[in-house]
Amino acid sequence: MIATGQFVITEMLEHHTLLITINRPDKLNALNRKTIEELHDVLVEVEQNKDVRSVIITGAGEKAFVAGADIAEFANYSIEEGKQMSSLGHFKIFNFLENFSKPTIAAIRGFALGGGLELAIACHFRVAADNAKLGFPEVGLGVIPGYGGTQRLAHLVGKGKAFEMILTGEMIDAQDAYKWGLVNHVVTPDALISKCLEITKKISTKSPTAIAAAIRAINAGYNPQLNGYEVEIEEFGKSFGTGDFKEGVSAFLEKRKPNFQGN
Ligand code: COA
Repeated sequence: MIATGQFVITEMLEHHTLLITINRPDKLNALNRKTIEELHDVLVEVEQNKDVRSVIITGAGEKAFVAGADIAEFANYSIEEGKQMSSLGHFKIFNFLENFSKPTIAAIRGFALGGGLELAIACHFRVAADNAKLGFPEVGLGVIPGYGGTQRLAHLVGKGKAFEMILTGEMIDAQDAYKWGLVNHVVTPDALISKCLEITKKISTKSPTAIAAAIRAINAGYNPQLNGYEVEIEEFGKSFGTGDFKEGVSAFLEKRKPNFQGN
């Protein structure tokens, strides 16, 4: 049983999938400090829980995934507080999610704006409902994206489109997001979670140790402090020492389905 808080609800679904719902629908699920803390606590717990093999993150209600950081909360912040808000967010949620050892999918219904879009792009991939609206409105408030958006957006859509989205502050719809590579799939709102489960079903039959290693290797290529090719060589080598590797290869040779334990 994974803890549930005031603003973050968890529910175990099929295929070893945990659904995490940001639950402040009256504020379009805006990320206040308490929501960030609760989400962090849930992620820390899930990272250790072997029964969870994939995570879906979504927002409560019909209108929004997450409409950004809580503007009312940061309205009177000083320079120092602004800096601390950004660095704490990076550490507690956004970098943590990007480097999470289990695949994370953002299920986007309605608005994914500012910190909400940053939350979505810190996940490993994204499924959007056809009513999704995605954007970085920050420059219209006199700030810039502060939860990794200036970096991760360009990795997904290229520098030119990232400049356009961030400098105009305009929202794009799900179809444009799909064309630009910002979301992996577009479905009707009703099919949003079932599409995610279709993906996590496939993941649930694969080796958790290999999946975690693949996440580390892919991410290494985007980390200027690391050499992605060297990390790949290390991770590839380490795979040969896992129980999952022995099980995967034995199952293949014995013509049966593998039963991975994630060890
Ligand atoms: N922070 C705090 N509160 C927010 C919020 C945010 N990022 N986004 C929405 N809300 C609140 C609104 O203040 C409103 O609260 P209230 O009912 O107590 O007044 C409630 O959520 C509903 O939003 P509302 O603006 O009435 O809905 P709408 O349908 O008219 O507009 C948006 C929807 C998304 C276009 C609009 O809410 C918006 O522009 N939000 C801010 C987006 C943003 O700039 N995000 C980046 C922050 S850095």
